[in-house]
Amino acid sequence: MEKIRIIGSHNLRLKGQVRISGAKNAVLPAIAATILTDEKVHLENVPLVKDVFTILTLMKELGADCHINRNSIFIRTKNICSDEASYELVRAMRASILVLGPLLARHGKAIVALPGGCAIGSRPIDLHIHGLEKLGASIKLEHGYINASAKKLHGAEIEFEKKTVGGTENLIMAASLTKGETILKNCSLEPEVTNLCELLIKMGAKIDGVGQETIRIKGVEELGRATHQIIPDRIEAGTFLIAGALTQGDITLTHIQPHHLDTLIEKLRYSGARIENLNPTTLRILGSEDIKPQDITTSPYPGFPTDMQAQFTVLMTQADGTSIITETIFDRRFSHINELLRLGANIEVSGDKAIVKGKSPLSGAEIIASDLRASASLILAGLIANGETTINDVEHLDRGYEKIEEKLKSLGAQIERLQG
Ligand code: EPZ
Repeated sequence: MEKIRIIGSHNLRLKGQVRISGAKNAVLPAIAATILTDEKVHLENVPLVKDVFTILTLMKELGADCHINRNSIFIRTKNICSDEASYELVRAMRASILVLGPLLARHGKAIVALPGGCAIGSRPIDLHIHGLEKLGASIKLEHGYINASAKKLHGAEIEFEKKTVGGTENLIMAASLTKGETILKNCSLEPEVTNLCELLIKMGAKIDGVGQETIRIKGVEELGRATHQIIPDRIEAGTFLIAGALTQGDITLTHIQPHHLDTLIEKLRYSGARIENLNPTTLRILGSEDIKPQDITTSPYPGFPTDMQAQFTVLMTQADGTSIITETIFDRRFSHINELLRLGANIEVSGDKAIVKGKSPLSGAEIIASDLRASASLILAGLIANGETTINDVEHLDRGYEKIEEKLKSLGAQIERLQG
């Protein structure tokens, strides 16, 4: 098990420029979408993170030809010969469920392991299944697998009971090759869903209402080749913005789309940070000495992102006063808090709320990461904790952050990766 060691300090001031990578949560559905065509698809600005390699392993197991060249991927699924996504791979990355809709639409059959829960919650997929059944799929859940088949899918009107990013993406992909018109209501508005629609339209899909809650898809006979740019990772960008606010730093983030971060930027400005738009793809953050407490409630985009909750909680441990963090998306997304308490934070969890009392000076300790975004929050805390912090099980971190130590080191952090 690899570890990360940080020599942190209350006086750390991160300064410099960091280039943000492509979005993990945009490239995963884009890779799944390549199942919908026989032609070659070229994806650019791909983050080289563990989840990308996991889904490429799955695609190769299905029979796809995949090639990586620096941050570009070339995929052709003409020779797909299997419709089964094994438990081993789905367990490693629940987003493997995103091959379900494309396999059904393209091959009329899919056997995908049930993803099960994870450190942040139960993670059901009932909304994916109900939607696909409305398109005419027959789906059986047996022996821990989703056994789906569809002689002929047909257009339908589907309203999601609650916003689901993966469910919206699975249904858009399946409907793109389904004869007739499909109307999806209460769709997720995340930029990653929009980026997927843009790719599908380049491949020839007929999609109206991109970026809106109601999306209309007219199924086509076949989809073709495309070259597509993956959007910047707004969660990585948000993580570095918080690093700047936390260390009274001066950090410039390049290759981003600032409007994807509006809610976080507003909260950071209210907490005292100065954030400037230097140009359409660059932000500069100047952290302030006095951090004002802010209450946040996570909600679907464009609300405060659940994937930024743990990182923002760390910032609030340094605020002058009490902040209330309410997590409404996942039922177990406070696992970072016990570890933050070990560093000296003063946080009390009650139901879906974490009451954060600041300002608590943190001191280094040995801690353990439990999931991707919790890992990022522990790194942020280690940066400002006086002394040495060692974070165990950093495999979680590698799932979604490309070269994070190098990026932080270039800003002045004392951080290194140790073999376990
Ligand atoms: C996506 O997960 C992201 N992952 C998550 O990011 C992100 O936290 C989440 O959306 C935010 O909603 C990827 O895009 C790969 P959901 P997803 O379906 O699609 C419930 C990260 O750190 N639900 O939007 O799995 C579910 O339990 C990851 O990068 C059902 O009840 O999330 C949750 O409470 C973590 N039934 C809520 O909806 C379903 O069929 C939102 O889940 C599906 C979901």
